[in-house]
Amino acid sequence: MENYKKEENQIIMCGIIGIASRDKNVKGRLVDSLKRLEYRGYDSSGIALRIKDGIFIKKRQGRVAELEEELKGNTFNSEVGIGHTRWATHGEPSCKNSHPHTDCTGKIALVHNGIIENYKELKKELEDSGHIFTSSTDTEVIAHLIEENLKEYTFIEAFRKAVKTLEGSFAIVALFSEEGSLYVARKDSPLVIGIGDRENFVASDVPAFLPWTDRVIFLEDGEMCKMTPNSVETYNFEGKSLKKEVIKVPWNLAQAEKGGYKHFMLKEIYEQGKAVGDTIGARLERDDEKVALEGDFPIPPEEIERILILACGTSYHAGLVGKFYLEEISGIPVYVDYGSEFRYRKPIINEKTLVIAVSQSGETADTIGAVRLAREKGARIISICNVLGSTLTRISDVTFHTYAGPEISVASTKAFTTQLSLFFLLALDLGSRRGFLSDEKEREYVREILSLPVKIEDILKKDKKEGIIREIAVKISSARNALYLGRNVNYPIALEGALKLKEISYIHAEGYPAGEMKHGPIALIDEETPTVFIATESSVLKKVKSNMEEIKSRNGKIISLVSDGEKELSELSDYIIRVPGINEYLAPILNIIPLQLLAYHAADYLGHDVDQPRNLAKSVTVE
Ligand code: F6R
Repeated sequence: MENYKKEENQIIMCGIIGIASRDKNVKGRLVDSLKRLEYRGYDSSGIALRIKDGIFIKKRQGRVAELEEELKGNTFNSEVGIGHTRWATHGEPSCKNSHPHTDCTGKIALVHNGIIENYKELKKELEDSGHIFTSSTDTEVIAHLIEENLKEYTFIEAFRKAVKTLEGSFAIVALFSEEGSLYVARKDSPLVIGIGDRENFVASDVPAFLPWTDRVIFLEDGEMCKMTPNSVETYNFEGKSLKKEVIKVPWNLAQAEKGGYKHFMLKEIYEQGKAVGDTIGARLERDDEKVALEGDFPIPPEEIERILILACGTSYHAGLVGKFYLEEISGIPVYVDYGSEFRYRKPIINEKTLVIAVSQSGETADTIGAVRLAREKGARIISICNVLGSTLTRISDVTFHTYAGPEISVASTKAFTTQLSLFFLLALDLGSRRGFLSDEKEREYVREILSLPVKIEDILKKDKKEGIIREIAVKISSARNALYLGRNVNYPIALEGALKLKEISYIHAEGYPAGEMKHGPIALIDEETPTVFIATESSVLKKVKSNMEEIKSRNGKIISLVSDGEKELSELSDYIIRVPGINEYLAPILNIIPLQLLAYHAADYLGHDVDQPRNLAKSVTVE
């Protein structure tokens, strides 16, 4: 292995899998799991297997498919093994940087996600004691540290003492060839245990082992375990034995597979009718007229003075829509901030501030950092999250789950529409409990929200049948820039539509409030630059129409998203996409769907890797 200089600020996010089984085909299953984890990182990958004479290791730069190719014809197999897929933003992705890493004897192999902050000091001490390093990664330090401790202790003690010495964040799975057990530790980096039938698993995320079990144990920070095919012993870092609850996750294998779709993203777009239906259905009373959320608010609704929504990326855009819902339906002032901005501010917060943290994964480091800061300042925390047992859910007072099922595509789609649906329900519940919303109005809103799943299906059926969005996507795929404009509750939809286009098609796109265009961005308009207008039925539609005229008179190409039956805007538009009519507040949940499809078809037409766009990873578990 060549030397690799780890930069100080190197950011690494990865997918980890470990299997201890009675079944001999662990190699194939590790590769299969790595493919399921590839959305977490896809620069390089590797596996380690316990074999008769020690440990067999194979690593490869690039996609897991390349590792699989490399392993073809290889006859080694095992009952115990570990695997890793890596994503790095600094430092060239290469074979030499990939995991697993080993100690001097080659008896210990380990995979790691996170950053060991004190690795330089540890490495110096270990080198002084005679350890020979074959890489400059922080991860290799852990293997040598365990090896050093083994001089005095049993493996479990050597492992425990090593993890106690580490500073920084880590999810570690170590394989010790002399025992065939796996040793696992977690601190500030996701890791979940899967309990199977005479076999056990550990992974960064549940879909990695979903083909074999849906029974899981969520490890907390500061916890470790020893795993064999028949047992999982859990301890804290002090060595105290722990009894952990086994939970059945409400996800199934079909949800984590492509099921005939070309890409996960397309499948997930098409799952939105059901995902939104499940998210809403779980929270309505039997007569379907009132919202009944499953958790109590951590602050009595009438005492909440303000709400602070914290999130990143697409979830942040959901928060911007949530602000409209909460202010207009429940009458509480709402502020929305990026996790990455908020956590470095000196926020003004008190115990009457309710924080709503939004995250698909529940592992986004900036959102978690922001929530921890808000909590320190006295705020109470609700989270809207898609992953049961994730870090965010564990640091929140109450969690409302989005029943979207596993979201595998890097570009978020069904998480977004389910987050919006939950925000709407939250606003209804808070509004009615605070006496801000009448029963009659609540019933009217509930009737409207119940129409969403069918209307979503209508949009998707039409897309399949008519292919209009694909035609438009082909037309815009040669553009270098695109503008997305919307007003009011559809302004965040312009932001989200633009984000979808840029992250998977690599066409630069900007979302803007339509009324702000004349203050600058209008200078960008020419025949080459398409502008997507979100122009569905609303109180501000007339204003949007004036903005369209401004673009038209400058020869800009206009793509309009309009409500079924709309006639006037057709004349101004080069292309029209129609969506079913619905209450103005709920329109964003329908409007984003054609925009997701527009981005998807453009990226697919351009031949991009839609599910794994360049430079991106699904869960951003570092700052
Ligand atoms: C974009 C996208 C990201 C995520 C962001 C936050 O399509 O997926 O912008 O929304 O990284 O992730 P979560 O919601 O997991 O906190």
